[in-house]
Amino acid sequence: MRVTLVLALLPALMVGCSDDLPTGEATTQTVSFHAVSGASAPRDTDALYREYCLRCHGADDEGGMSGSLIDDTWLYAKTDWERYAATAEGIADAGMPAFGGVLSKEEIGDLLEFIKEPDRVRALGKLSTPNDRPKRVVTRHYVLNVEPWGAGDLSIPWAIQFIDHNAALVTERPGGLRLIVDGWLHPDPIRDTPEVLHSGQGGLMDVAIDPDYADNGWVYLTYSHALNPKSRRSAAHTRVVRGRIVDHAWVDQEVLFQAPIKDYGMTRHHYGSRVVFDKEGMLYFCIGERGERTPAQDLASAKGKVHRIHPDGRVPSDNPFSDDPEALGTVYSYGHRNPQGMGFHPETGELWIVEHGPRGGDEVNIVHPGKNYGWPVITYGINYSGTIITHRMRAPGMEQPTYYWEPSIAVCGSEFVTGDEFPKWKNDYIATGLVSKEVRRLVNTEDRVMHDEVILEGYGRVRDVGFDSAGAMYVVTNDPDRVWRVTNKGPAQR
Ligand code: HEC
Repeated sequence: MRVTLVLALLPALMVGCSDDLPTGEATTQTVSFHAVSGASAPRDTDALYREYCLRCHGADDEGGMSGSLIDDTWLYAKTDWERYAATAEGIADAGMPAFGGVLSKEEIGDLLEFIKEPDRVRALGKLSTPNDRPKRVVTRHYVLNVEPWGAGDLSIPWAIQFIDHNAALVTERPGGLRLIVDGWLHPDPIRDTPEVLHSGQGGLMDVAIDPDYADNGWVYLTYSHALNPKSRRSAAHTRVVRGRIVDHAWVDQEVLFQAPIKDYGMTRHHYGSRVVFDKEGMLYFCIGERGERTPAQDLASAKGKVHRIHPDGRVPSDNPFSDDPEALGTVYSYGHRNPQGMGFHPETGELWIVEHGPRGGDEVNIVHPGKNYGWPVITYGINYSGTIITHRMRAPGMEQPTYYWEPSIAVCGSEFVTGDEFPKWKNDYIATGLVSKEVRRLVNTEDRVMHDEVILEGYGRVRDVGFDSAGAMYVVTNDPDRVWRVTNKGPAQR
């Protein structure tokens, strides 16, 4: 079959979704699908999909980090030519990279034909998702007991925070704040939580409690906040609030951090974010660079930063840039891409974070005040499309990661091991993988990662990990949307 399409470079993909071909002012160019061309032969389509598309779009109706391409739902590209344009030019605001430079027209055409055959796409998933491999429960030290906790109708759970020895709050990205007590999921979300912009990677994200929660009841949330909540096209940014939960309702809300209006953006990805407290009770949170890269180096922008504030939102006078009139006073460190996990080392008191990097650039960083972690000037990663971001992996004045993953695991939530359930893992840093569907244990000495062990695999795309006061581990997954309780079944036979 030979279909010739006219492609406009690049009409606003998000607005018109008519089947009509564009005419008039836009530059047009002719594109042939399955063109019989004498140029270099297109590469194998299955392999192309696996290399370039699978990590984000997945191989089933659930999709991956982004929506499925075989579920017959199209948010941006209703027609073949719009899909062609989306693939070639990308959808900048949504975080869809441009592949025009690395895939030929024929290859893009082949991929678009390929996704019309869902069974072929699903067959790829069967080959490559760890779900089909035996679920790993034997680790170097322990055999793990893994069971669903509070199974029910969770929707894209994102973060977990224990508020008592047997009770936890769980955020759902579409906006729900849920309570699980003793493995029982309360059927109703907490009422009156803030309205979130659930689009792309945004929505309700982290939940944390005050170090003095037992006395003051403060619960902290981060979410993507739309300047104009009535409009799906509103500019958005990560916002930090706190409130209390009384009679299953969110009350007393205070906005602790809101970025300057001019820092709000149209992108829908790289929001961060986590909230943690140090021993002195100061609050740290992180925001991703919102897919815009360079603001990570701009001290006046909230993007790509770790921030430090008092728990009531006041800006501390001893922050590293508080004397710089150009800088946001909350900035603690900069040059971050999309930090998605944070934790204070129980012994050294240092702040460890994991950052979701580009392809091949997921990092662990130990954060020091005022330091520059280099994004996007230096990185070990490359673009999702396979093209080079920069050849520079180090530069004067920029910190090297403490550890990085190549290939990326799509690192997400993290937590230091506490409690008595896994004594040999005390103070190890647990990091989770969204795409790799893994939970990893990073053995560390002070400021170094010595060993990296996959301790759980194949239970779902892992967003977060937490511990109860006795030290049982809780793993939050998407696909399936669930919380797993992980306990120690006894020593592993060696
Ligand atoms: C880095 C992640 C990423 C990669 C890699 C990626 N995409 Fe996307 N893509 C997205 C995001 C994000 C969207 C926005 C819609 C969504 O979230 O599902 C999108 C949207 C699309 C759309 C429009 C979907 C719609 O609902 O209208 C098409 C078509 C598409 N991608 C094709 C591809 C193809 C083909 C590949 C492989 C060559 C690919 N993408 C690789 C992230 C990615």
